[in-house]
Amino acid sequence: MLAYRHAFHAGNHADVLKHTVLTRVLRYLNQKDKTYRLVDTHAGAGGYSLEGQHAQKKGEFEHGIACLWGRHDLPEPLADYVAQVRRFNPDGRLAQYPGSPAFAQLLLRPQDQLRLFELHPTDHRILASYLGELKGAEVYDTDGFDGLKGQVPPSSRRGVVLIDPSYEGHADYGRVIATLRDTIERFAEGVYLVWYPQVSKLEAAQLPKRLEALAPKGWLHARITVQQPDRQGFGLAGSGMFVVNPPYTLHDELAGVLPYLTEVLGQYDGANYLLEQRTG
Ligand SMILES: C[S@@+](CC[C@H](N)C(=O)[O-])C[C@H]1O[C@@H](n2cnc3c(N)ncnc32)[C@H](O)[C@@H]1O
Repeated sequence: MLAYRHAFHAGNHADVLKHTVLTRVLRYLNQKDKTYRLVDTHAGAGGYSLEGQHAQKKGEFEHGIACLWGRHDLPEPLADYVAQVRRFNPDGRLAQYPGSPAFAQLLLRPQDQLRLFELHPTDHRILASYLGELKGAEVYDTDGFDGLKGQVPPSSRRGVVLIDPSYEGHADYGRVIATLRDTIERFAEGVYLVWYPQVSKLEAAQLPKRLEALAPKGWLHARITVQQPDRQGFGLAGSGMFVVNPPYTLHDELAGVLPYLTEVLGQYDGANYLLEQRTG
């Protein structure tokens, strides 16, 4: 049973990091006319109300996108990310937050392809009604780990894969590794973005090292820690993005972004960031 609903978390600090990195990667791919395919294995509902009961329940966006909304000193990559969120809120008020499929819709060109997987029946229904008719898009209600196999390599051999599971149980960590191992073997030049939570679980702590071993041609790892876990060790302290085959521009862009995010989103004195990469 799927209990996770992204509507409770939309626009939080983890979404800020994830969607900033996604925006940079799509901007980079857009520099060439040649078509590419974006596969989003865990797509969510596509877009979220920040005024509805889900987002209001914990108010996570107030420690995320809301902290950036009125700022005039944003580093360029963050200004671009916030500009996309503004396009999703045409009346100028922060009322909606775009999920990863909506960022894709905003940034992909007519020649590009979008493949979206979402297993939760309600979120799939919302996603399909929102993007199901979009030219170049296909929306599936099947398992995204399994479905990825049928989507790569794209015939253009240009592709980006976002893997953003909910990590509800322990199984997702192992499935991320197994799926990536198999997929990279068949499409070595793809760009792979893996989001992971910074939580008190061995699997989460080990994930980046296990991902490094799958990326002989190069990787980038970006993480921000914004809050302390509670006394039982629970809670989302921060999150990371691990990018296999990152655009060469990404490291320098994030070097300006991560200190800023740590300062603005940090909720305690120990807030910090990590940025590391290995080129192939
Ligand atoms: C973290 S949310 C996705 C958020 C979205 N990528 C975004 O950035 O806006 C994870 C989603 O994956 C869905 N899900 C869980 N297991 C899945 C699976 N095996 N295949 C496809 N979707 C799955 C959940 O229902 C949930 O909506």
